[in-house]
Amino acid sequence: MNYEFDKVIDRKEHHSAKWREMDKKFGTNDLIPMWIADMDFKTAPEITEAMREKLEHGIFGYVNRSDEYYEIACNWLKKRHSWEVSTKNITYSPGVVPALSIIIQEFTKPGDKIIIQSPVYYPFYNVIEENNREVVLNPLKETERGYYEMNYEDLISKIDDDVKFLILCNPHNPVGRVWKKEELEKLGKICFEKGVKVISDEIHSDLIFKENKHMPFASLGKEFEENTITCFAPTKTFNIAGLYSSFIVFPNSKDRDIFEEALGRIDLKRNNPFSLVATMAAYEKGEPWLKELLVYLEENIDYLIGYIKENIPKIKVRKPEGTYLAWLDFRDYDLSKGELERKIIEEAKIAFDDGLWFGEEGEGFQRINVACPRVMIEEVLKRLESVFK
Ligand SMILES: Cc1ncc(COP(=O)(O)O)c(C=O)c1O
Repeated sequence: MNYEFDKVIDRKEHHSAKWREMDKKFGTNDLIPMWIADMDFKTAPEITEAMREKLEHGIFGYVNRSDEYYEIACNWLKKRHSWEVSTKNITYSPGVVPALSIIIQEFTKPGDKIIIQSPVYYPFYNVIEENNREVVLNPLKETERGYYEMNYEDLISKIDDDVKFLILCNPHNPVGRVWKKEELEKLGKICFEKGVKVISDEIHSDLIFKENKHMPFASLGKEFEENTITCFAPTKTFNIAGLYSSFIVFPNSKDRDIFEEALGRIDLKRNNPFSLVATMAAYEKGEPWLKELLVYLEENIDYLIGYIKENIPKIKVRKPEGTYLAWLDFRDYDLSKGELERKIIEEAKIAFDDGLWFGEEGEGFQRINVACPRVMIEEVLKRLESVFK
Protein backbone atom coordinates (compact mmCIF):
# COMPACT_ATOMS: atom_id res chain seq x y z
CA MET A 1 0.00 0.00 0.00
CA ASN A 2 1.37 3.39 -0.98
CA TYR A 3 -1.25 5.33 0.95
CA GLU A 4 -1.93 5.44 4.67
CA PHE A 5 -5.56 4.38 4.91
CA ASP A 6 -4.86 2.87 8.34
CA LYS A 7 -3.79 6.19 9.81
CA VAL A 8 -6.21 7.79 12.25
CA ILE A 9 -6.43 11.50 11.54
CA ASP A 10 -8.10 13.99 13.83
CA ARG A 11 -11.14 15.58 12.20
CA LYS A 12 -12.94 16.94 15.24
CA GLU A 13 -10.63 19.92 15.49
CA HIS A 14 -10.89 20.41 11.73
CA HIS A 15 -14.53 21.40 11.38
CA SER A 16 -15.82 18.00 10.22
CA ALA A 17 -19.63 17.79 10.13
CA LYS A 18 -19.45 14.02 10.56
CA TRP A 19 -17.51 14.41 13.81
CA ARG A 20 -19.03 17.63 15.17
CA GLU A 21 -22.68 17.59 14.22
CA MET A 22 -23.77 14.39 15.92
CA ASP A 23 -25.26 16.41 18.75
CA LYS A 24 -27.84 17.84 16.35
CA LYS A 25 -29.11 14.40 15.31
CA PHE A 26 -28.25 12.20 18.28
CA GLY A 27 -28.09 14.66 21.19
CA THR A 28 -24.37 14.15 21.85
CA ASN A 29 -21.00 14.25 20.11
CA ASP A 30 -19.66 11.50 22.35
CA LEU A 31 -20.22 8.80 19.70
CA ILE A 32 -18.05 7.07 17.14
CA PRO A 33 -19.18 8.63 13.83
CA MET A 34 -20.09 6.03 11.21
CA TRP A 35 -22.83 8.07 9.58
CA ILE A 36 -22.47 10.94 7.00
CA ALA A 37 -21.01 9.58 3.74
CA ASP A 38 -17.53 11.02 3.64
CA MET A 39 -14.28 9.23 4.38
CA ASP A 40 -11.85 9.58 7.28
CA PHE A 41 -8.92 9.26 4.86
CA LYS A 42 -6.74 11.94 3.27
CA THR A 43 -7.53 12.42 -0.38
CA ALA A 44 -5.10 11.47 -3.16
CA PRO A 45 -1.77 13.35 -2.80
CA GLU A 46 -2.06 14.48 -6.44
CA ILE A 47 -5.20 16.40 -5.50
CA THR A 48 -3.60 17.98 -2.46
CA GLU A 49 -0.63 18.95 -4.63
CA ALA A 50 -2.86 20.70 -7.17
CA MET A 51 -4.57 22.56 -4.34
CA ARG A 52 -1.22 23.48 -2.81
CA GLU A 53 -0.12 24.99 -6.09
CA LYS A 54 -3.30 27.03 -6.15
CA LEU A 55 -2.79 28.06 -2.53
CA GLU A 56 0.74 29.18 -3.22
CA HIS A 57 -0.41 31.14 -6.23
CA GLY A 58 -2.21 33.20 -3.63
CA ILE A 59 -4.96 34.67 -5.76
CA PHE A 60 -8.43 33.29 -5.18
CA GLY A 61 -10.58 35.34 -7.51
CA TYR A 62 -13.41 34.04 -9.70
CA VAL A 63 -12.36 31.16 -11.89
CA ASN A 64 -13.16 30.16 -15.44
CA ARG A 65 -13.63 26.58 -16.57
CA SER A 66 -11.88 25.84 -19.83
CA ASP A 67 -13.06 23.18 -22.30
CA GLU A 68 -10.35 21.02 -20.82
CA TYR A 69 -12.28 20.84 -17.55
CA TYR A 70 -15.14 19.00 -19.22
CA GLU A 71 -12.87 16.99 -21.51
CA ILE A 72 -11.13 15.55 -18.45
CA ALA A 73 -14.48 14.56 -16.93
CA CYS A 74 -15.69 13.00 -20.21
CA ASN A 75 -12.42 11.08 -20.53
CA TRP A 76 -12.99 9.68 -17.07
CA LEU A 77 -16.47 8.45 -18.03
CA LYS A 78 -15.09 6.86 -21.16
CA LYS A 79 -12.14 5.21 -19.50
CA ARG A 80 -13.86 3.92 -16.38
CA HIS A 81 -17.40 3.35 -17.58
CA SER A 82 -17.07 3.02 -21.38
CA TRP A 83 -19.53 5.89 -21.81
CA GLU A 84 -18.91 8.57 -24.44
CA VAL A 85 -20.39 11.92 -23.53
CA SER A 86 -20.15 15.06 -25.64
CA THR A 87 -18.80 18.10 -23.82
CA LYS A 88 -21.76 19.98 -25.31
CA ASN A 89 -24.17 18.09 -23.03
CA ILE A 90 -22.37 18.30 -19.70
CA THR A 91 -22.21 21.01 -17.10
CA TYR A 92 -21.09 21.82 -13.59
CA SER A 93 -23.16 21.89 -10.42
CA PRO A 94 -21.90 22.61 -6.90
CA GLY A 95 -23.51 19.36 -5.74
CA VAL A 96 -25.75 16.54 -6.86
CA VAL A 97 -28.52 17.37 -4.39
CA PRO A 98 -28.78 21.02 -5.48
CA ALA A 99 -28.79 19.77 -9.08
CA LEU A 100 -31.70 17.43 -8.33
CA SER A 101 -33.59 20.36 -6.89
CA ILE A 102 -32.91 22.58 -9.91
CA ILE A 103 -33.82 19.80 -12.36
CA ILE A 104 -37.13 19.35 -10.55
CA GLN A 105 -37.80 23.09 -10.60
CA GLU A 106 -36.91 23.52 -14.26
CA PHE A 107 -38.31 20.36 -15.82
CA THR A 108 -41.49 19.68 -13.79
CA LYS A 109 -44.27 21.80 -12.33
CA PRO A 110 -45.82 21.94 -8.84
CA GLY A 111 -48.06 18.94 -8.25
CA ASP A 112 -46.17 16.67 -10.65
CA LYS A 113 -45.17 13.28 -9.33
CA ILE A 114 -41.67 11.82 -9.05
CA ILE A 115 -40.93 8.17 -8.29
CA ILE A 116 -38.17 7.02 -5.93
CA GLN A 117 -37.18 3.50 -4.94
CA SER A 118 -37.23 3.24 -1.17
CA PRO A 119 -35.40 2.64 1.08
CA VAL A 120 -33.30 5.36 -0.49
CA TYR A 121 -30.97 8.32 0.19
CA TYR A 122 -33.24 10.59 2.19
CA PRO A 123 -32.57 13.95 0.47
CA PHE A 124 -34.47 12.48 -2.53
CA TYR A 125 -37.65 12.89 -0.47
CA ASN A 126 -36.72 16.44 0.55
CA VAL A 127 -35.91 17.77 -2.92
CA ILE A 128 -39.24 16.54 -4.21
CA GLU A 129 -41.41 17.62 -1.30
CA GLU A 130 -39.70 20.94 -0.67
CA ASN A 131 -40.32 21.85 -4.32
CA ASN A 132 -44.03 21.03 -3.89
CA ARG A 133 -43.91 17.96 -6.07
CA GLU A 134 -45.32 14.62 -4.96
CA VAL A 135 -43.22 11.62 -3.93
CA VAL A 136 -44.43 8.31 -5.34
CA LEU A 137 -42.80 5.28 -3.74
CA ASN A 138 -41.80 2.24 -5.73
CA PRO A 139 -40.22 0.25 -2.86
CA LEU A 140 -37.46 -2.23 -3.63
CA LYS A 141 -38.30 -5.90 -3.10
CA GLU A 142 -36.20 -7.85 -0.61
CA THR A 143 -36.01 -11.05 -2.63
CA GLU A 144 -33.55 -12.73 -0.27
CA ARG A 145 -32.54 -11.59 3.18
CA GLY A 146 -30.74 -8.27 2.64
CA TYR A 147 -30.80 -8.53 -1.16
CA TYR A 148 -32.93 -6.05 -3.03
CA GLU A 149 -34.36 -5.98 -6.53
CA MET A 150 -36.61 -3.56 -8.34
CA ASN A 151 -40.34 -4.18 -8.23
CA TYR A 152 -41.44 -3.69 -11.84
CA GLU A 153 -45.09 -4.69 -11.34
CA ASP A 154 -45.43 -2.12 -8.59
CA LEU A 155 -43.68 0.46 -10.79
CA ILE A 156 -46.11 -0.09 -13.66
CA SER A 157 -49.06 0.30 -11.29
CA LYS A 158 -47.69 3.58 -9.87
CA ILE A 159 -47.20 5.42 -13.18
CA ASP A 160 -49.94 7.78 -14.27
CA ASP A 161 -49.97 10.93 -16.42
CA ASP A 162 -48.70 13.10 -13.54
CA VAL A 163 -45.51 11.08 -13.07
CA LYS A 164 -42.71 12.97 -14.84
CA PHE A 165 -39.48 11.50 -13.48
CA LEU A 166 -38.03 8.56 -11.64
CA ILE A 167 -34.90 9.24 -9.60
CA LEU A 168 -32.66 6.21 -9.90
CA CYS A 169 -29.93 5.63 -7.33
CA ASN A 170 -27.24 3.75 -9.26
CA PRO A 171 -25.39 2.30 -7.32
CA HIS A 172 -28.02 2.28 -4.63
CA ASN A 173 -27.56 4.00 -1.29
CA PRO A 174 -28.24 2.41 1.24
CA VAL A 175 -28.74 -1.17 -0.02
CA GLY A 176 -25.46 -1.31 -1.96
CA ARG A 177 -26.81 -2.73 -5.20
CA VAL A 178 -24.90 -2.03 -8.41
CA TRP A 179 -27.78 -2.43 -10.82
CA LYS A 180 -27.20 -4.91 -13.62
CA LYS A 181 -27.67 -4.08 -17.29
CA GLU A 182 -30.79 -6.26 -17.59
CA GLU A 183 -32.38 -4.67 -14.54
CA LEU A 184 -31.75 -1.19 -15.88
CA GLU A 185 -32.99 -2.09 -19.34
CA LYS A 186 -36.24 -3.40 -17.91
CA LEU A 187 -36.64 -0.24 -15.83
CA GLY A 188 -35.96 1.99 -18.83
CA LYS A 189 -38.39 0.15 -21.04
CA ILE A 190 -41.22 0.62 -18.55
CA CYS A 191 -40.41 4.27 -17.87
CA PHE A 192 -39.92 5.36 -21.48
CA GLU A 193 -42.99 3.56 -22.80
CA LYS A 194 -45.02 5.48 -20.26
CA GLY A 195 -43.34 8.85 -20.85
CA VAL A 196 -41.39 8.94 -17.59
CA LYS A 197 -37.86 10.37 -17.75
CA VAL A 198 -35.06 9.25 -15.46
CA ILE A 199 -32.63 11.20 -13.31
CA SER A 200 -29.79 8.80 -12.61
CA ASP A 201 -27.77 9.67 -9.52
CA GLU A 202 -24.44 7.96 -10.17
CA ILE A 203 -22.39 9.66 -7.48
CA HIS A 204 -21.20 6.27 -6.13
CA SER A 205 -20.35 4.87 -9.56
CA ASP A 206 -16.58 4.73 -9.02
CA LEU A 207 -16.91 2.78 -5.79
CA ILE A 208 -17.57 -0.68 -7.16
CA PHE A 209 -16.31 -3.96 -5.72
CA LYS A 210 -14.84 -6.91 -7.58
CA GLU A 211 -17.12 -8.86 -9.89
CA ASN A 212 -19.54 -5.96 -10.29
CA LYS A 213 -19.66 -3.39 -13.04
CA HIS A 214 -21.30 0.01 -13.05
CA MET A 215 -23.52 0.64 -16.05
CA PRO A 216 -24.31 4.31 -16.69
CA PHE A 217 -28.06 4.27 -17.28
CA ALA A 218 -27.88 6.75 -20.17
CA SER A 219 -25.27 4.59 -21.93
CA LEU A 220 -27.66 1.70 -22.54
CA GLY A 221 -29.00 2.92 -25.88
CA LYS A 222 -30.38 5.88 -27.80
CA GLU A 223 -33.69 5.97 -25.95
CA PHE A 224 -31.82 5.94 -22.64
CA GLU A 225 -29.53 8.76 -23.73
CA GLU A 226 -32.51 10.85 -24.86
CA ASN A 227 -34.54 10.43 -21.69
CA THR A 228 -31.98 10.54 -18.90
CA ILE A 229 -30.23 13.23 -16.89
CA THR A 230 -27.16 11.82 -15.13
CA CYS A 231 -25.46 13.20 -12.04
CA PHE A 232 -21.92 12.17 -11.13
CA ALA A 233 -19.02 13.66 -9.19
CA PRO A 234 -15.46 13.15 -8.00
CA THR A 235 -16.57 13.99 -4.46
CA LYS A 236 -17.44 10.57 -2.98
CA THR A 237 -14.73 8.85 -5.01
CA PHE A 238 -11.90 11.09 -3.84
CA ASN A 239 -13.27 12.36 -0.52
CA ILE A 240 -13.60 15.97 -1.61
CA ALA A 241 -17.32 16.49 -0.95
CA GLY A 242 -16.66 19.66 1.03
CA LEU A 243 -15.16 21.27 -2.06
CA TYR A 244 -18.49 21.12 -3.91
CA SER A 245 -18.01 19.85 -7.43
CA SER A 246 -20.26 17.67 -9.53
CA PHE A 247 -21.27 17.10 -13.14
CA ILE A 248 -24.64 16.81 -14.79
CA VAL A 249 -25.08 15.20 -18.20
CA PHE A 250 -28.15 16.14 -20.24
CA PRO A 251 -29.61 14.47 -23.33
CA ASN A 252 -28.94 17.63 -25.34
CA SER A 253 -27.38 21.08 -25.06
CA LYS A 254 -30.80 22.80 -24.93
CA ASP A 255 -31.66 21.15 -21.62
CA ARG A 256 -28.14 21.79 -20.41
CA ASP A 257 -28.60 25.51 -21.15
CA ILE A 258 -31.88 25.59 -19.21
CA PHE A 259 -30.06 24.15 -16.20
CA GLU A 260 -27.11 26.53 -16.57
CA GLU A 261 -29.43 29.53 -16.74
CA ALA A 262 -31.13 28.42 -13.53
CA LEU A 263 -27.76 28.10 -11.77
CA GLY A 264 -26.82 31.50 -13.17
CA ARG A 265 -29.98 33.09 -11.71
CA ILE A 266 -28.80 32.19 -8.20
CA ASP A 267 -25.20 32.95 -9.19
CA LEU A 268 -23.86 29.51 -8.35
CA LYS A 269 -22.46 28.70 -11.72
CA ARG A 270 -18.76 28.93 -10.85
CA ASN A 271 -16.45 26.52 -9.07
CA ASN A 272 -14.37 27.86 -6.25
CA PRO A 273 -10.67 27.84 -7.22
CA PHE A 274 -9.88 24.77 -5.11
CA SER A 275 -12.74 22.62 -6.39
CA LEU A 276 -11.69 23.41 -9.94
CA VAL A 277 -8.08 22.27 -9.61
CA ALA A 278 -9.00 19.36 -7.31
CA THR A 279 -11.58 18.01 -9.77
CA MET A 280 -9.14 18.14 -12.67
CA ALA A 281 -6.33 16.52 -10.68
CA ALA A 282 -8.70 13.81 -9.38
CA TYR A 283 -9.81 12.66 -12.80
CA GLU A 284 -6.42 13.09 -14.43
CA LYS A 285 -4.13 11.74 -11.75
CA GLY A 286 -6.20 10.08 -9.02
CA GLU A 287 -6.61 6.56 -10.39
CA PRO A 288 -3.70 4.84 -8.58
CA TRP A 289 -5.03 6.14 -5.26
CA LEU A 290 -8.57 5.01 -6.10
CA LYS A 291 -7.33 1.55 -6.96
CA GLU A 292 -5.79 1.13 -3.52
CA LEU A 293 -8.74 2.75 -1.81
CA LEU A 294 -11.08 0.15 -3.28
CA VAL A 295 -8.89 -2.66 -1.97
CA TYR A 296 -8.89 -1.13 1.51
CA LEU A 297 -12.65 -0.52 1.51
CA GLU A 298 -13.37 -4.06 0.40
CA GLU A 299 -11.12 -5.42 3.15
CA ASN A 300 -12.98 -3.27 5.68
CA ILE A 301 -16.30 -4.64 4.47
CA ASP A 302 -15.04 -8.24 4.51
CA TYR A 303 -13.66 -7.75 7.99
CA LEU A 304 -16.96 -6.29 9.22
CA ILE A 305 -19.01 -9.10 7.73
CA GLY A 306 -16.67 -11.84 8.93
CA TYR A 307 -16.67 -10.48 12.47
CA ILE A 308 -20.43 -10.12 12.63
CA LYS A 309 -21.01 -13.63 11.27
CA GLU A 310 -18.70 -15.10 13.83
CA ASN A 311 -19.48 -13.05 16.91
CA ILE A 312 -22.86 -11.32 16.58
CA PRO A 313 -24.70 -13.53 14.06
CA LYS A 314 -28.10 -12.22 15.04
CA ILE A 315 -27.18 -9.04 13.15
CA LYS A 316 -27.48 -9.81 9.44
CA VAL A 317 -25.39 -8.07 6.82
CA ARG A 318 -24.75 -8.71 3.17
CA LYS A 319 -21.76 -7.51 1.20
CA PRO A 320 -22.61 -4.40 -0.81
CA GLU A 321 -21.75 -4.57 -4.52
CA GLY A 322 -20.60 -0.96 -4.42
CA THR A 323 -20.50 2.18 -2.20
CA TYR A 324 -18.72 2.21 1.17
CA LEU A 325 -21.98 1.75 3.00
CA ALA A 326 -23.36 -1.43 4.54
CA TRP A 327 -26.94 -2.05 5.60
CA LEU A 328 -27.03 -3.71 9.00
CA ASP A 329 -30.17 -5.71 9.72
CA PHE A 330 -31.21 -5.84 13.39
CA ARG A 331 -34.72 -7.16 12.71
CA ASP A 332 -34.10 -10.44 14.53
CA TYR A 333 -33.86 -8.51 17.79
CA ASP A 334 -37.51 -7.48 17.49
CA LEU A 335 -36.89 -4.09 19.06
CA SER A 336 -39.31 -1.21 18.77
CA LYS A 337 -38.28 1.73 16.54
CA GLY A 338 -37.04 3.90 19.41
CA GLU A 339 -35.43 1.05 21.32
CA LEU A 340 -32.99 0.05 18.55
CA GLU A 341 -31.89 3.65 18.09
CA ARG A 342 -31.57 4.14 21.84
CA LYS A 343 -29.40 1.06 22.26
CA ILE A 344 -27.10 2.13 19.42
CA ILE A 345 -26.72 5.69 20.63
CA GLU A 346 -26.87 5.39 24.41
CA GLU A 347 -25.39 1.95 24.99
CA ALA A 348 -23.09 1.27 22.03
CA LYS A 349 -22.31 4.98 21.59
CA ILE A 350 -22.23 4.79 17.82
CA ALA A 351 -23.68 7.18 15.25
CA PHE A 352 -25.16 5.23 12.32
CA ASP A 353 -27.69 6.51 9.80
CA ASP A 354 -30.96 5.15 11.17
CA GLY A 355 -32.71 2.89 8.67
CA LEU A 356 -35.95 4.79 9.03
CA TRP A 357 -34.37 7.95 7.61
CA PHE A 358 -34.38 6.13 4.25
CA GLY A 359 -38.07 5.28 4.40
CA GLU A 360 -40.31 2.97 6.37
CA GLU A 361 -38.75 -0.09 4.69
CA GLY A 362 -35.62 0.80 6.68
CA GLU A 363 -37.19 -0.08 10.02
CA GLY A 364 -34.87 -2.39 11.96
CA PHE A 365 -31.82 -1.39 9.87
CA GLN A 366 -28.84 0.88 10.46
CA ARG A 367 -26.46 2.11 7.75
CA ILE A 368 -22.76 1.98 8.53
CA ASN A 369 -20.09 3.94 6.65
CA VAL A 370 -16.93 1.82 6.53
CA ALA A 371 -14.67 4.41 4.89
CA CYS A 372 -12.42 4.81 7.90
CA PRO A 373 -9.25 3.28 9.37
CA ARG A 374 -9.80 -0.36 10.33
CA VAL A 375 -9.24 0.35 14.04
CA MET A 376 -12.46 2.35 14.01
CA ILE A 377 -14.36 -0.59 12.56
CA GLU A 378 -12.79 -2.83 15.22
CA GLU A 379 -13.96 -0.46 17.94
CA VAL A 380 -17.48 -0.28 16.52
CA LEU A 381 -17.70 -4.06 16.35
CA LYS A 382 -16.54 -4.40 19.97
CA ARG A 383 -19.19 -1.94 21.04
CA LEU A 384 -21.90 -3.69 19.03
CA GLU A 385 -20.87 -7.05 20.42
CA SER A 386 -21.04 -5.85 24.00
CA VAL A 387 -24.60 -4.54 23.51
CA PHE A 388 -26.09 -7.00 21.00
CA LYS A 389 -24.42 -10.34 21.65
C1 LIG B 1 -26.93 8.89 -3.66
C2 LIG B 1 -26.32 10.19 -3.23
N1 LIG B 1 -26.53 11.29 -3.96
C3 LIG B 1 -26.00 12.48 -3.62
C4 LIG B 1 -25.24 12.60 -2.48
C5 LIG B 1 -24.70 13.95 -2.09
O1 LIG B 1 -24.29 14.66 -3.18
P1 LIG B 1 -23.77 16.17 -3.08
O2 LIG B 1 -22.93 16.28 -1.85
O3 LIG B 1 -23.00 16.34 -4.34
O4 LIG B 1 -24.99 17.02 -3.03
C6 LIG B 1 -24.99 11.48 -1.67
C7 LIG B 1 -24.21 11.61 -0.46
O5 LIG B 1 -24.19 10.77 0.40
C8 LIG B 1 -25.56 10.24 -2.07
O6 LIG B 1 -25.34 9.14 -1.35
